[in-house]
Amino acid sequence: MTTRKCIAVILAAGEGTRMKSHTPKVLHKIAGRSMVGHVVDTVQKAGISSIAVVIGPGRDDVAAVIHGLAPDAQCFVQTERLGTAHATLAARAAIGTDYEDVLVLFADTPLLEPATIKAMRGRLVEGNGVVALGFEAKNPNGYGRLLTQGGDLLAIREQKDASEAERAVTLCNSGLLALDGKVALKLLDAVGNNNAQSEFYLTDVVALAHGLDVSTGYELAEESEVMGVNDRTQLATAEAVIQDRLRRKAMLNGATLTDPGSVFFAHDTIIGRDVVIEPQVVFGPNVVVGDRVNIHAFCHIEDATIENDAAIGPFARIRPGSNIGEGAKIGNFVELKKADIGAGAKISHLSYIGDAVVGADANIGAGTITCNYDGFFKYKTIIGEGAFIGANSSLVAPITIGAGAYVGSGSVITKEVAPDQLAVARGKQIAKDGWGASFRQTSEAKKKAGKPS
Ligand code: UD1
Ligand code: MG
Repeated sequence: MTTRKCIAVILAAGEGTRMKSHTPKVLHKIAGRSMVGHVVDTVQKAGISSIAVVIGPGRDDVAAVIHGLAPDAQCFVQTERLGTAHATLAARAAIGTDYEDVLVLFADTPLLEPATIKAMRGRLVEGNGVVALGFEAKNPNGYGRLLTQGGDLLAIREQKDASEAERAVTLCNSGLLALDGKVALKLLDAVGNNNAQSEFYLTDVVALAHGLDVSTGYELAEESEVMGVNDRTQLATAEAVIQDRLRRKAMLNGATLTDPGSVFFAHDTIIGRDVVIEPQVVFGPNVVVGDRVNIHAFCHIEDATIENDAAIGPFARIRPGSNIGEGAKIGNFVELKKADIGAGAKISHLSYIGDAVVGADANIGAGTITCNYDGFFKYKTIIGEGAFIGANSSLVAPITIGAGAYVGSGSVITKEVAPDQLAVARGKQIAKDGWGASFRQTSEAKKKAGKPS
C-alpha cells in the first residue's frame, strides 16, 4: 500500500435529468444503498480517507447521506452545472492542499471496486500524470471514447463531439480519472468549453496533458464494473450486476440458494454457513443471519438478526428491530416488528408480534396478535419464558405475561398474567341440550305458515 497522500473527489452534482425523478440521481439506490453511498464506501475500502464530494445547490439530502458514511468528507457546491471539469474545480480548495494522488470519481458509476482504484494509483506511481479507466462497451452509445495509439492514450472524445470514425471506437471512458496532484489544478484550469455541449469536460485533461509534456496512461476494467447509471434501465442493470455479486458471495461463504436469481440481498447482508435460502426471498438493509438457518420461500426480512439454527417462513415478514433467537421458529404468515424472540420460541402461524419480547421456549399459538397501537402511541408486550399463548388470542399492550403462564385460546388479555397462572378471557360457553332439534322444528313450522317470525 502506497503512503502517498491521496484525495478522492466524487462528482455528484449532475441534474440527472434522464432519471426523470424528483429524487437526485445519486440518491437512487442499488442493493438498498444510494449510488453515492456505494462510491464513498468503495473509496474508503481502497484506503482513501480524504474525500471531497461535489453536490448541487440546496442538496442537503445528498450531503446528509455522505456525512452518514464519511463524517469528515468535505462537500462543495457546484452552483451551475457546467460540466465535469467545472464540477471538479468546485473542490479546488481541497485539491490544492498538497496531495500526491487526486482521483476523480463519478457518483453515477456505483459498481467500481476498491482494487481498481488501487491499480489506478499504481499507474500514477509509475510516473503517469493522468490515468483514465477504460472499458470495452457492448453498446458505446453515450460514452466518451478513448483515442489511443500503440498503447498510448491521446485523448478522450465525447460522443457528441466525435467524428464517425471515432464513434466506431468501442473502448470507452468509465469516468474514473487519476491525476498527479502536482499538475491536477493546472490541467483542470486549462480546460475550455469549446465543444458540442459548451461544457467544461474533465476528459479534456488528457489532450491538454500532452501539450504540457505530462505523460498519460490508461487502465482497463470490465463493463459490469464501470457502467454509468443515467436512466432507470441502467439502474436496473446495475442492480442485477450487484445482486449477482452478492449471491455469489453468499454461496461462496457456504450458503445454499436453491434459486439464486430470485433472492435479493442488501449491500450489507451477512449470511452464515450452511444457511439454506429458498426461492423468492428479499433482504432489506442491516440483516445478519447466523449459521444453519433455514429461510423458506417468500420471506421479506429487514434490519433484523437471525441467530443460529432458527427457521423462518415460508411467507414470513420480519420488520426492523427484530431479533430471532437460536433455534426459534417463525412460521407462515407471521409478521414481526421490533420483536425480540427468545431461543427456541415458536410462532408458527398467522401472527402479528410487534414491540414485544418473547421469552425462550414460549409457544405463541396460531393467530395471536399483539395489540400494540392505540392510534397515538405504541406499547410493549412482554411474554415470559416457556409461556403458552393459546390460538387466536389478542394481547392488549402494555401487557406482561409471566414465565410459564397459560393463556386460553381466543382470549383478549388486558391485565397482567402472573407466572404459571392460567388466564382465560372470553365469553363463557353455555350448553342447551336438544336446542338444535327444537329450533329446527319451530322454524320449519313458521316457514310453512309463511311467517318470518
Ligand atoms: C461522462 C463522461 C464520459 C464517460 C461517462 C461514463 C465527461 C465530459 N463525460 O459522461 O466520457 O464515458 O461519464 O459514465 O466527463 N456532474 C456534476 N456536475 C456537472 C456535470 C456532471 O457533478 O456539471 C457529475 C454527475 O452527477 C455524474 C458525473 O458528474 O456523477 C458524470 O456526469 P454525467 O452527466 O452523467 O456525464 P456522462 O454524460 O455520463
Ligand atoms: Mg453519467
